[in-house]
Amino acid sequence: MKILITGAAGFIGFNLSKYLLGFKKIKIFGIDNLNNYYSKSLKLSRIKELKKFKNFNFKKIDITNRQALDKYLKKKKISLIINLAAQAGVRYSFIKPSEFVDNNILGFYNVVKAAKNNSINKIIYASSSSVYGDSLFFPLKETQIINPKNIYGLSKKINEEMAEVFSKQFEMTFIGLRFFTVYGEWGRPDMFMMKYLNSTYNLSKKFYLNNFGKHTRDFTYIRDVCQIIKKIIFLKDKQSQNEIFNICSNRPINLLKIIKQINKLTCKSPTTYKRPLQKADVIKTHGSNKKILDKIGKRRFTSIKDGLMNTLIWFKKYYNF
Ligand SMILES: NC(=O)c1ccc[n+]([C@@H]2O[C@H](COP(=O)([O-])OP(=O)(O)OC[C@H]3O[C@@H](n4cnc5c(N)ncnc54)[C@H](O)[C@@H]3O)[C@@H](O)[C@H]2O)c1
Repeated sequence: MKILITGAAGFIGFNLSKYLLGFKKIKIFGIDNLNNYYSKSLKLSRIKELKKFKNFNFKKIDITNRQALDKYLKKKKISLIINLAAQAGVRYSFIKPSEFVDNNILGFYNVVKAAKNNSINKIIYASSSSVYGDSLFFPLKETQIINPKNIYGLSKKINEEMAEVFSKQFEMTFIGLRFFTVYGEWGRPDMFMMKYLNSTYNLSKKFYLNNFGKHTRDFTYIRDVCQIIKKIIFLKDKQSQNEIFNICSNRPINLLKIIKQINKLTCKSPTTYKRPLQKADVIKTHGSNKKILDKIGKRRFTSIKDGLMNTLIWFKKYYNF
């Protein structure tokens, strides 16, 4: 099976590619524009790691370039696209909203159009828990009304609406995955977990704890995410043309609590600057994973203790501590 993964140099794209490459009969075509939203060298290291696999092929392509994408897909006989390329970062969406319109909305359309032009009739794509905005009803269910608070969340909501329209117009299958705070090895330096570890080991000086640490997040370990996506890829039942699933552990944790656990593991405690709620932030995320588990079968999610330990081991090895 030949799969195109966009955003293959990114955190989830890399981990998913690596996981899938371990299975016979899967060939991954990875593309990424290697932008410098965060450390380009981290992205290059991830690609270097993936290139160790014979069944991996990488090309630097920007999904905002429709022609390049279209040309690349010609004659490759790809049967599935997993679209993970996007401008991520809720905070950054207030600084450079245009990046979210270009990469996430136009880019998504280009991926759909290129799929259509090349007879690829299935797309799995990244949505986000950010589509929910500030909700009062937990756990968040796929059926409830969504109300994003920023252009990042809105771009993902628009992706979901585009999927609904194009699934009918182009007769394609779309599966949208609303990821909830994914963490783990090779994690994103702009997210809480890596920022905290960076401060712990003095790679970056100040650690700002928003909302005085009163946030709650449904932390979901990267390997669980990869295993779930693999199950989705090989689902045997007749799939509806347009589905959306929460991808979450359904185990929300308060940030102060998780900080305590990290400190216990590292035996360190970086200086933390507590500050009020920032305009970009939602206070709580907690998703229901009933829909996805009904689909793929019950599974045990990695404990936060094990997930943190694996992340820390990787972090120390990668940064030479
Ligand atoms: N990590 C999370 O917790 C989380 C939560 C919710 C949703 N998501 C979504 O999951 C997807 C993957 O997230 P991630 O955490 O791996 O982010 P990431 O930033 O690490 O990965 C995204 C990758 O896409 C690439 N990219 C961006 N614009 C591109 C373009 N125009 N053309 C080609 N490549 C481009 C980037 O260079 C990057 O390598 C994103 O769509 C993100 O919005 C992630």
